[in-house]
Amino acid sequence: MDRVRDRMPMSAPDISEEDVRAVAEVVRSGRLALGPQTEEFERLIAEYVGAKHAVAVSSGTTALHLVVRALGIGPGNEVLVPSFTFAASVNVILYERGTPVFVDIEPDTYNLDPEDLARKITPRTKAILAVDVFGHPAEWDAILRIAGKHGLRVIDDACEALGAEYKGKKLGGFGDAATFAFYPNKQMTTGEGGVVVTDDAELASLCRSLRNQGRGEMGSWLEHERLGYNYRMTEMSAALGVSQLARIEALLAKRDRVARMYSERLSGLEFVRPPAPSFSPRSGRGSPDRCWRRWRPGSPWWSPTCGATTTSSNTGRTGFW
Ligand SMILES: Cc1ncc(COP(=O)(O)O)c(C=O)c1O
Repeated sequence: MDRVRDRMPMSAPDISEEDVRAVAEVVRSGRLALGPQTEEFERLIAEYVGAKHAVAVSSGTTALHLVVRALGIGPGNEVLVPSFTFAASVNVILYERGTPVFVDIEPDTYNLDPEDLARKITPRTKAILAVDVFGHPAEWDAILRIAGKHGLRVIDDACEALGAEYKGKKLGGFGDAATFAFYPNKQMTTGEGGVVVTDDAELASLCRSLRNQGRGEMGSWLEHERLGYNYRMTEMSAALGVSQLARIEALLAKRDRVARMYSERLSGLEFVRPPAPSFSPRSGRGSPDRCWRRWRPGSPWWSPTCGATTTSSNTGRTGFW
């Protein structure tokens, strides 16, 4: 057996002939950056998640970094973040010399626990960076209530959760801004890519400037208004995004079919815990089955075998991707 060749991938991109044609057309056109495909992708993704503005960027990490920077998070600011997430959710706070403060997670969803969130607030807390882990929506009502009470900014790291809904509303409309990622293991892909979505026109405009070397939207190519980055999405990526987004419902349904297959075949194994239910009467959260799912080894002696992030005192487990 060839151990590498025969390994089952965690997930693979679903690329159609139409996707290939869309990308090839852009390559032939010679307009490879800052063009109509990026604008179209932004328009479509904003419409899909129900946000007013979208800013397409080079990855989910850069999307998150732009929001952290645009919200002015910096030295001395504490940001509450779940103790189980992908490393980028925490790294972006460190990029700006902010202080990540870890919040315990709920054992059934692996999302941050609102009760512990409230306990971790101090006079230095500036923001909450909540994550919809494995596509399962965080407890948004509670998070927004706590944020409102303490005047905190809210970032939704929905990088794993395109298409998921909380109480009938798509993720992307909770908090000051949300981010999605399009690496090939996500619900849809642009190769590498990400997006910031927000209803805040000023925040969107600042993110546009920051992703484009600090240029103003109206200024010339050599006019830099602020410190910025090259976090732009390419036209090839955007074209792939437009093409993939056109069949997002089919892509999500395919994931759902695979998830159901796993559910059928893994149910009854006592050392495997199924994902949290798709609809919880307690919270009214719904639709994680439209996103990612993860079956968890349920044995008490389970420990991760690759790359570690942090440990939750609720579950006693260490997060890893
Ligand atoms: C929760 C979460 N946040 C952020 C990211 C970063 O996205 P990217 O890999 O596109 O930079 C990921 C990627 O997997 C993620 O899972």
